Amino acid sequence: MTRPDLNQIVRTPDGRPEVEQPKWRRDFPIDLPQDEYVARRDFTKFMVLTSLAFAVGQVWIGIENWRRRRRGQPPIAEIAKVSDVPIGSTITFAYPQLHDACLLVRTGELTWLAYAQECTHLACAVIPEVDKGQFRCPCHHGYFDLTTGRPIAGPPRRPLPRITLDVRNGAVYATGVEERTA
Ligand code: FES
Repeated sequence: MTRPDLNQIVRTPDGRPEVEQPKWRRDFPIDLPQDEYVARRDFTKFMVLTSLAFAVGQVWIGIENWRRRRRGQPPIAEIAKVSDVPIGSTITFAYPQLHDACLLVRTGELTWLAYAQECTHLACAVIPEVDKGQFRCPCHHGYFDLTTGRPIAGPPRRPLPRITLDVRNGAVYATGVEERTA
């Protein structure tokens, strides 16, 4: 005589059918098949909610960009995945238009900075020197502070335009350009 496979037994403790069981017992079943079923159901629920949140986020960005275009404001654009930018590193990106070169710098776990790359003296491209806390312009030896984008040496008098950022859901978004005079 073969013994029943205990892993395949679905049995409620009080013998009443599954639908008559209280919710807490359905959520914490004692039979393994039921337990697996709940785990799969929870996983499916998690996937559906995550996908929904992602879809809502994309729709929100689309609506926000449409409203911004109507108001003549720069769009919201994803510029990098958080995991693609290690601490202490820099990447270039284009914002708000394809010909507008910018720099994204990650100085800490949660610290991000972004500026237009064009020097405010005569428009050469500045070079990030993260270890020295500065941007250097090779054309006329202009220097900008890395944390503020303000000029600290050489001919530039105006700060680098700052790109405002939003970091969420594992991605970094550019949300606008702050032109500054001092
Ligand atoms: S263009 Fe940058 S210092 Fe002159």
